[in-house]
Amino acid sequence: MNIMEVRDVKKVYGSKQVESESRALNGVSFFVQKGEFLGIMGPSGSGKSTLLNVISTIDSPTSGTISLRGKSFLNLNEDELSSFRRKQLGFVFQDYNLLDTLTIKENIILPLSLSKVDVATMEEKLKKISSILNIEDILAKYPYEVSGGQKQRAAVARAIITEPEIIFADEPTGALDSKSSKELLDNLSLLNINNKATIVMVTHDAFAASYCDRIIFIKDGILHTEIEKTKGRKDFYNELLSTLATIGGAESDII
Ligand SMILES: Nc1ncnc2c1ncn2[C@@H]1O[C@H](COP(=O)(O)OP(=O)(O)O)[C@@H](O)[C@H]1O
Ligand SMILES: [Mg+2]
Repeated sequence: MNIMEVRDVKKVYGSKQVESESRALNGVSFFVQKGEFLGIMGPSGSGKSTLLNVISTIDSPTSGTISLRGKSFLNLNEDELSSFRRKQLGFVFQDYNLLDTLTIKENIILPLSLSKVDVATMEEKLKKISSILNIEDILAKYPYEVSGGQKQRAAVARAIITEPEIIFADEPTGALDSKSSKELLDNLSLLNINNKATIVMVTHDAFAASYCDRIIFIKDGILHTEIEKTKGRKDFYNELLSTLATIGGAESDII
């Protein structure tokens, strides 16, 4: 079942009257299936973050349609959008986006506190999720007192505590060392398999992408190609590397 449909989405930054107009997306169409772990890859500057921002309500497209469970969210006003975002979507960013003045626990339950969920329910959800992500021991600490990998697992906990329809992650392993990256990807993979979480992840890293079920490649703002994982992760990884080599954006593009 398709949970999200994206049709002919275009994004032009700047005004059409000025010369600095930048066409970041040039007509992108695809769908996200319920329960899939979808990856978005492409060279630096190809429009990956723009695409993720537009399909996750952070930014609006210049034209095109995006719908979640058959309903377009493009016509919602700011209040409706923020409520929709909080209840239906989960976000994980490269730089964690945790609030330094709150403890890890307070950060994780923030979306529930904002939705005025009762304390007992919050505690119960927190307990379950922090056990899945193995962060029970750091709940009383502040973000600056824990490692990058722990911060990112806390960010994932915050993203999933509302049981969102879709989790969006933009380069979630971008700031992590290889061991923490692997732990995070294993966690995302488990959430996808055990909790049937739908995940859309942008990454330029073939190793991270090899955890996905399917990858769409974008180049110069258009969908270039799509690959589905049919065999194991290692074969998929090699397939991704050769695709990246043909369209650019392979390991050598990593800054
Ligand atoms: N806020 C912005 N204003 C103007 N141009 C932007 C903005 N954000 C991104 N761009 C441009 O849009 C293109 C795609 O950027 P982006 O989506 O960030 O690519 P990626 O995430 O694949 O590296 C680039 O040419 C970039 O310079
Ligand atoms: Mg980006």
